[in-house]
Amino acid sequence: MSVLDVTDLVKHFPIHGGLLQRQTGAVRAVDGVSFSIAKGETLGLVGESGCGKSTIGKTVLKLIEPTSGKIVLGGEDITALKPAAMWPHRKRIQTIFQDPYSSMNPRLPAGTIVGEPLENFDIARGKERDERVAKLFERVGLRPDAMRKYAHEFSGGQRQRLGIAKALSVSPDVIVADEPVSALDVSVQAQVLNLLIDLQEELGLAYLFISHDLAVMRHISHRIAVMYLGRIVELTDKRTLFSTPLHPYTEALLAAATAPDPRRARRKKAIVQGDVPSPANPPSGCHFHTRCPYATAECKVVSPPLREVSPGHHVACLLR
Ligand SMILES: Nc1ncnc2c1ncn2[C@@H]1O[C@H](COP(=O)(O)OP(=O)(O)OP(=O)(O)O)[C@@H](O)[C@H]1O
Ligand SMILES: [Mg+2]
Repeated sequence: MSVLDVTDLVKHFPIHGGLLQRQTGAVRAVDGVSFSIAKGETLGLVGESGCGKSTIGKTVLKLIEPTSGKIVLGGEDITALKPAAMWPHRKRIQTIFQDPYSSMNPRLPAGTIVGEPLENFDIARGKERDERVAKLFERVGLRPDAMRKYAHEFSGGQRQRLGIAKALSVSPDVIVADEPVSALDVSVQAQVLNLLIDLQEELGLAYLFISHDLAVMRHISHRIAVMYLGRIVELTDKRTLFSTPLHPYTEALLAAATAPDPRRARRKKAIVQGDVPSPANPPSGCHFHTRCPYATAECKVVSPPLREVSPGHHVACLLR
């Protein structure tokens, strides 16, 4: 059963220019994206910088309003909910950030920070809150006496554990994790990823996990959606993606990331030549045609739909 269903999601940011600051164009950050996430499942979103990953995360969290499309959380359509109406649903979808420190008040003890949502959502106060917070600390691998410490006294990995404890405090169904381990040392990354996996197994959490790092994706995701310029170009289970990538862009990403010989890696990397085009002015047809080694004349004009080419394996390419 899916806990999050996103259909044809579009988010365009207007560009204003000229003396009168009229709208002169739009950044097509997310340009028609659909996916579902099941209870207990991790869907990874991967792609180069600027392809729209964080915008999808912020939109499903309703931190920004979608331009169009539909977001259904636990069977309820939350697309058009205004902040007040959205409030009760916020318990069910929480987030953890790349840099949890920036969202933590440096003057509050860690226990108060983690317990904030319990008060805000009227779940627990006073002694009951403290007991719940102590359990959360234990659950994420922090000692209960750390509740009295301040955010600056924790290491990066411990702060991410605090962020996870805070997100968990309201018992969400879905967690949007936007590059949660990118700022951490590789050894600490694995510890935090393993904690997230344990919590998922224990609590049946669904994760929308955003990362540009394929090794991280491979560790944590069940299914992976590869994004290019605001669109999903390939979506399938992790094993199939790494063994049988079908989209030329996925092929290039994998070749660049996994080649054992660095000289070969450099040569393969050349498959994704040039810079990512601007989402304010994306190429016609298939967005990837300007960098694709296999592009045909048709690719310049026809925008390929995301098709299911074998059970559960979706690809948006005219040639596959
Ligand atoms: N508030 C905004 N106003 C205007 N443009 C925006 C806004 N937020 C994002 N964008 C643009 O939308 C596009 C997608 O940005 P987004 O942050 O979603 O990418 P991303 O895939 O998360 O990249 P990264 O890997 O660097 O985090 C980019 O071109 C970005 O500049
Ligand atoms: Mg981002």
